[in-house]
Amino acid sequence: MKTLLEQMTLHEKIGQLMQLSPFFFLADLEKEAAGPIRELHLDEEKIYSAGSILGIGNAAEMIAVQSKYLERSRLKIPLLFMADVIHGYKTIFPVPLALAASWNPDTARRCARVSATEAATSGIHMTFSPMADLVRDPRWGRCVESFGESPLLSGRFAAAMVEGYQNGDLKRSDSVAACVKHFAGYGAAEGGRDYNTVDLSRQSLQSAYLEGYRQAVKAGCRGVMTAFNPIEGIPCTVNRYLLRDVLRTQWGFDGLTISDYDSLAETIAHGVAEDPSQAALMGLEAGLDIEMASSCYINHLEEHIRSGNLPLKLLDEAVLRVLTLKQDLGLFDNPNKGADALRESTTVQHPDHLRAAHEVAAECAVLLTNDGTLPLNPAVSVAILGPYALAVKTNGPWSWHGYHDENPSLAEVLTARGISPVFAKIAGCPEEYSDHDIDRIRKADVVLLALGEPENWSGEAHSRTDIGLPGRQAEFVPFVRSLGKKAIVLLQNGRPLVLEEILDASAILETWFLGSRASEAIADLLYGVTNPSGRLPMSFPRSVGQIPVYHDALPTGRPNQNENHPGEYVTKYLDAPNSPRFAFGHGLSYSRFEVRNLSLSASKIRKDDVLAVEVDIINHGPLAGDTVIQLYLGDPVARISRPVRQLVTFRKIHVAVNETLRVRFELDIHDLSYRLADGTLVCDPGRINLWVGDSPDRLLSSAFVLE
Ligand code: GLC
Repeated sequence: MKTLLEQMTLHEKIGQLMQLSPFFFLADLEKEAAGPIRELHLDEEKIYSAGSILGIGNAAEMIAVQSKYLERSRLKIPLLFMADVIHGYKTIFPVPLALAASWNPDTARRCARVSATEAATSGIHMTFSPMADLVRDPRWGRCVESFGESPLLSGRFAAAMVEGYQNGDLKRSDSVAACVKHFAGYGAAEGGRDYNTVDLSRQSLQSAYLEGYRQAVKAGCRGVMTAFNPIEGIPCTVNRYLLRDVLRTQWGFDGLTISDYDSLAETIAHGVAEDPSQAALMGLEAGLDIEMASSCYINHLEEHIRSGNLPLKLLDEAVLRVLTLKQDLGLFDNPNKGADALRESTTVQHPDHLRAAHEVAAECAVLLTNDGTLPLNPAVSVAILGPYALAVKTNGPWSWHGYHDENPSLAEVLTARGISPVFAKIAGCPEEYSDHDIDRIRKADVVLLALGEPENWSGEAHSRTDIGLPGRQAEFVPFVRSLGKKAIVLLQNGRPLVLEEILDASAILETWFLGSRASEAIADLLYGVTNPSGRLPMSFPRSVGQIPVYHDALPTGRPNQNENHPGEYVTKYLDAPNSPRFAFGHGLSYSRFEVRNLSLSASKIRKDDVLAVEVDIINHGPLAGDTVIQLYLGDPVARISRPVRQLVTFRKIHVAVNETLRVRFELDIHDLSYRLADGTLVCDPGRINLWVGDSPDRLLSSAFVLE
C-alpha cells in the first residue's frame, strides 16, 4: 500500500478521508443533489475522490456505485462501504441491551455472524457496531444499543460481536469489519439527555467507561468511531488524549478512526474550532482518520499541508490505515467483495437465520416477577390486551433493513400453535374496551398485558425524563384484577423502566425488543417450552430520582441506611431505599435453583497464583433450564476507593432436573486488578471479599487474602 500511497496526489489522499452518503453517487447532481453539494461546498470532482460510503441499500445499488466510481478513479482505489448493522441486517435479533440480558456472549457472536452473512451480500464491508458505551442512566435513549452498566459484561459482549462480524478472516466474502463506538464515554451524557455534555474523570474512564471499547480493540476490531460528546472539555472527535494517547499508545490500536455523523464539523458548535478549517487541522492532529458526512477535510486539509501547518506524515498515516483496511478486505482484488444480488435474495431472512433469531430471543427475556402463574398450561384460555396486544413492531431501534410486516404477532403465533386467544385487541387504556369487549375478556382465564414503550421512544436522540409506563398503561393491571383475572405483563422497552405501578401483576416478563421472532420466543417462554434464563444487564430503579443506581458503586464515608445503621446521618433518601427495584443480575426461572458448598482453593494467594472458586448448582425442578452463576469481588482497602461489589466473571450453565453440577472459576491476577487514571493495571495486597450466586439476592460470600 505504501507504493500506491506514493503514487497518489495530495488531493487523492485527502479524498480517502471523506465519507459520503451513496446519495451523491446515485442522484442527479444538478437537480437532486445541488442543495447538499452547495451546503458541503463540494463539487463533482471532490465527490468522486471520496474514500468511503455511509449506508447502502442492496447489492445492485452497491455494485452500481462502485463501478461508476471506479470508472473515474485514476488509481482504481475501490470505495469502502460502511453501514449501521447493529443487531441484525434483515433478520433482526434482540436489541443489544437484550442480548446482554442473555449473559451468554455466544448469542451476540451468533447475531453478529448472521448479520455479517446477510449484510455482506448487499456489499457492506464494515459495520458501525458493536456499540460499547457503558450506561448507568436509563433516561438515555441509547441504553437500548448498549450492553448495560457492567464494564465486564460490556467487554465480553463487544468482543463477541467483533469476532462474529470478522470471523477471523476479513477476506472471506461473508466477513464484515467491525467498528466499535462511540469512543468514548457517550453513555455518561449528563441528565441522560442524548448529545449532552459528559464530565468523566480519567479514573472513571479507565476503570469503567473504556472497558467495552478496550475489549473490542483487543478482539481485533478494525475501526473506532468517535463520540459526539467532549471528554475533559475537548470533543472526542478532536481529542488527542483519547485518539492518540489511549487508542494508539496505551492500546496499540492500528485500525482506522472515523468521526460520528458530522461530529468533526460540530467541534465548531462545541466552541473549540473557529471554523471548518480549524476543525480539519484539529482533527488530523488529534488522530481522526475519516470524516463522516461533513467536509472539513476535503475543503481545508490541502491548504494546511501545503502551508506546513500540518505535516504530510500525519495525512499519509491516516490514508495508509484506510488503504490497508481496503486491502485486508480484499477490495483491490474484488471491489464488490460479497455483493451479489442473487445470493442476497436467498441469504437474507434465511430460515436458519430466523431460527437463530428465535433461539437467541428466547434467551434474552428476563422474568422479573412471577407468583407461579407462569408457565401457562395450554388448556388455559388467554386474552391479550394493551397498546401492543397485536404488536409486530418488535425489531427495536437501528433495525433499518428489518421488515416489521414479516414478524408474526403473539396472537398469530398462539393461534398457529392451537391456543388462540379468546380476545386480542389494542387499547391505550382499559376505558377503550367496550362492555362487549369486557364480556369477551371475562371468558379468558388469564390476561396477557402487552405494555411498554413504542420502538421510537429509545434509540438516538430519544431520551426521557420520566421512565414510567407511558400514558395510562398502569391502569391495566388493576382493571384486570377487578375482573378477577390473573394479569401477566409482557414488557417491550428499550431501557430500564420504573415499574412500581404494576408490581402487583401476577408476573412481569421483560421482553425488550426481541427482533424478528419475538412473538415465537415469548410464546415459548409463556408456556415453558423455554425456561427463562435472562438476567438484568442494568439496574431498574424504583424512581427516576434514584438515577444513577448501579451494582458496582463505590463505598461512601457514611454508611448506607439499613437495620445496622438506622441513624440520621447515613447515606439515604427520605422517601425511598437506596436499592433499585430490580438489581443488576436479577432474573427468575421456572425452576428452583440452589447454589451451595462454596469453596476456595486457598485462603491466601500470591500475585502469580490462580485461585479456584467452586460451587454446587442444583436444579430442584420442575423444568430443566439455564442459570447464570455470577461471581463478584470487592476490594475493601486499595490505593483508591474500589466498588463494594463488582461483577468479575460469570458462567451460564444448563442444569437438568434434580441434577447437581459443580461449577469452577479460576481467578488470576487480572481478575483482581483494576486500572488507575493513567491506564495502568494494578492490584493491591490485602483482603478480597467474594460473592457467588445465581441471583444478586442469593449470594454465598467468602473472602481470601492477596499477599
Ligand atoms: C449516528 C450515530 C452512530 C451511527 C452514525 C452513522 O449519528 O450516532 O451510532 O453509526 O450516525 O449512521
